[in-house]
Amino acid sequence: MSIRTLDDLLAEGVSGRRVLVRADLNVPLDKQTGDITDDGRIRAVLPTLGALVEAGAKVVVCSHLGRPKGAPDPQFSLSPVAGRLGELLGAPVRFATDTVGDSARSTVADLADGQVALLENLRFNAGETSKDEAERGAFADQLAAFGDAYVDDAFGAVHRKHASVYDVPARLPHVAGRLVLREVEVLSKLTSEPERPYVVVLGGSKVSDKLAVIEALLPTVDRLLIGGGMCFTFLKAQGLEVGTSLLEKDMVETCRNLLERADGKIMLPVDVVVADAFAPDAAHDTVRVDGIPSHRLGLDVGPETVAGFSAALSQARTIFWNGPMGVFEMPAFAAGTRGIAEAITKADAFSVVGGGDSAAAVRALGLDESSFGHISTGGGASLEYLEGKTLPGIAALEN
Ligand code: 3PG
Ligand code: MG
Repeated sequence: MSIRTLDDLLAEGVSGRRVLVRADLNVPLDKQTGDITDDGRIRAVLPTLGALVEAGAKVVVCSHLGRPKGAPDPQFSLSPVAGRLGELLGAPVRFATDTVGDSARSTVADLADGQVALLENLRFNAGETSKDEAERGAFADQLAAFGDAYVDDAFGAVHRKHASVYDVPARLPHVAGRLVLREVEVLSKLTSEPERPYVVVLGGSKVSDKLAVIEALLPTVDRLLIGGGMCFTFLKAQGLEVGTSLLEKDMVETCRNLLERADGKIMLPVDVVVADAFAPDAAHDTVRVDGIPSHRLGLDVGPETVAGFSAALSQARTIFWNGPMGVFEMPAFAAGTRGIAEAITKADAFSVVGGGDSAAAVRALGLDESSFGHISTGGGASLEYLEGKTLPGIAALEN
């Protein structure tokens, strides 16, 4: 790969130069209070930002948060993120209340060497996500005007063909930040000759979201363990009744076909926790998968499944895990996810946790992050990487 890195840029000298950093500061916020519930993605860009600050750059950070519709929407403001970023950096971060308007222009113009500014949410501008090249390009021109060089450290967004990810690097000298480099280094270990046995655990709610990655992984993995809401469509494909559990009817045939082609590599739950309702206090019991009552829904995998999956994981030398095993946010349905996570930490294997919900689960369940080989900041991005897709944000850095 012909990607230049942050170290190359630092070697050129950045003191007094404006460096535009695309970060993925899309952190989960508490719906009631608006507080940041998991700052993992903010912490993950500190190595890059810290190095630039220390080298005396004027650091202009930009990011998206949530999915606002191309216009300002206060519930998606990055303002709380600026506060948290300042705390973590140990120096205040100047916050621009727009992305490319008057506030952004004056904030960038007033930056001193070694100071950090954060622009308001990129997606408050329709140009950021536009499918129209010209509209995206016009927005990219405005953003690029804030930097003398561009650093992409937004691994979680490299699979998006968006202005800040794809079009800005075409307009400025560009390098990969520390986080993007580390993520690509780790994930490429999984695609090129992983140490065997290579065991993948997939969960989450939808088969349709994971179909492409299952197809791509089946020939490569030794075992594929499937839990979470998506397991019920597979169980249905085996001819079992799943009650009122999550079911993608139009995927049953696809799952049947996958199971036939999987050569026994796919392991499904043998028991599940079923409840009367999707609620933290719903009455619940553990049943065998051939005994799911017609009026109840599965919200977690059961203890025998955890034992079986854990046995497979204990043999592994390489593990990739994406997606919770159950509704881990509700304590009654968290045991499956906790059990699998613990089995991963105990295995004598190189383990990668793929993004989004599973990374949040690790932290929410109070597990020790350092007992995993790598916790990716990218959910969709890490899956698309493993699918072997071209990632627009990486491609844009490659020349
Ligand atoms: C994520 O949370 O997956 C990334 O920040 C990308 O966000 P998006 O899925 O809204 O593009
Ligand atoms: Mg996403």
